[in-house]
Amino acid sequence: MAQDIFEQAQAAAAWIRTRSTLQPKLAIVLGTGLDALSSQFEKHFEVSYTEIPHFKQSTVEGHRGAYMEGMWEGKPVIILAGRFHYYEGYSMQEVTFPVRVLQQLGVEILLITNASGGTNENFEMGDLVLVRDHINLLPEHPLRGKNDSRLGVRFPDMTNSYDPEIRKLGLDFARSQNIRIHEGVYVSLQGPNLETPAEYDFLHRIGGDLVGMSTVPEVIVARHAGIRLAVLSVISNVCYPPDRIQETSGEDVVNVVKENTHKAIRVIQHLVQKLA
Ligand code: HPA
Repeated sequence: MAQDIFEQAQAAAAWIRTRSTLQPKLAIVLGTGLDALSSQFEKHFEVSYTEIPHFKQSTVEGHRGAYMEGMWEGKPVIILAGRFHYYEGYSMQEVTFPVRVLQQLGVEILLITNASGGTNENFEMGDLVLVRDHINLLPEHPLRGKNDSRLGVRFPDMTNSYDPEIRKLGLDFARSQNIRIHEGVYVSLQGPNLETPAEYDFLHRIGGDLVGMSTVPEVIVARHAGIRLAVLSVISNVCYPPDRIQETSGEDVVNVVKENTHKAIRVIQHLVQKLA
C-alpha cells in the first residue's frame, strides 16, 4: 500500500536523522531572494531536496532547494532554502510536505520569510513586516480530505497563529535598531501573475496589508502540527494607493529583497538568539 503523508514524513525525517544529529527545535524557511541568510550560520549538514525521500525539487528562480542544519548564535537550527509554490503545479500536500517533515523532526518553532507586495499606504519598498494575521484566498487547501489525527485535529484553531510573543520580540528589536518594520495582514493568492491595480485596491479594502503567493499553506499546516511560528516579509513592491504601483518583474522582486536581506537577517538572528 502507498505510504500516507504521515508515513512519508516519518521516512524523510528518519532519513535526515541518520545523517545529522543536531536535533534542532527551530527551523527557518527562506523565501524569494533571502538565500544570503544561510551564509550566516555555521553549516554542519546540507542536502538537496531531491535527495530526501518524498521531497520534490523547487523550480523557481531564487529558490535553491536545499535542506541544511547548523549552528547559529550557538543554537542548532534547520534552514530550508527554497520552498514549493502552488503556482508551480504542486498539490497543497506537496507544498506543505517540508513542514510535515519538520513536525516529525520535533521542530517546535518555525520562522518563515517571504517577499510580498505592500497594499498598505504606509509601507515602503524594502520595509519589513511581521505578519500578524492572514486572509487565505488560495483555491485549494492542504488539510482537505480525511483528517489524520496523528498529524493534528480536524478543525485547527487559527487564533494567535502568528505567535504574539515572537512578533513582539521582532518588533522591539527592529525598532531599537531603527529598522523600518510593521505588523500586517498577509493575503495569499495563487499567482503566478502579480495583481491588477483593481485587485490590489480590493486587497487593501478587505483588510490586507501585504500580498504574496506562498506561506499561508505552510502556516496552516504548521498550526495543525502545533508548531509556533512567525512570518517575516520583505516588501518588494508598493501597490497601494494605485498611483504608487509600478510595473514589476520577478527579477525586480528578487533584487529589492536582496538589497534588504541584511535587515531581515538581523531580525531573524535576534529571534534565533532569544528563542532557539
Ligand atoms: N503580488 C503577489 N506576490 C508578490 C508580490 C505582489 O505584488 N510581490 C512579491 N510577491
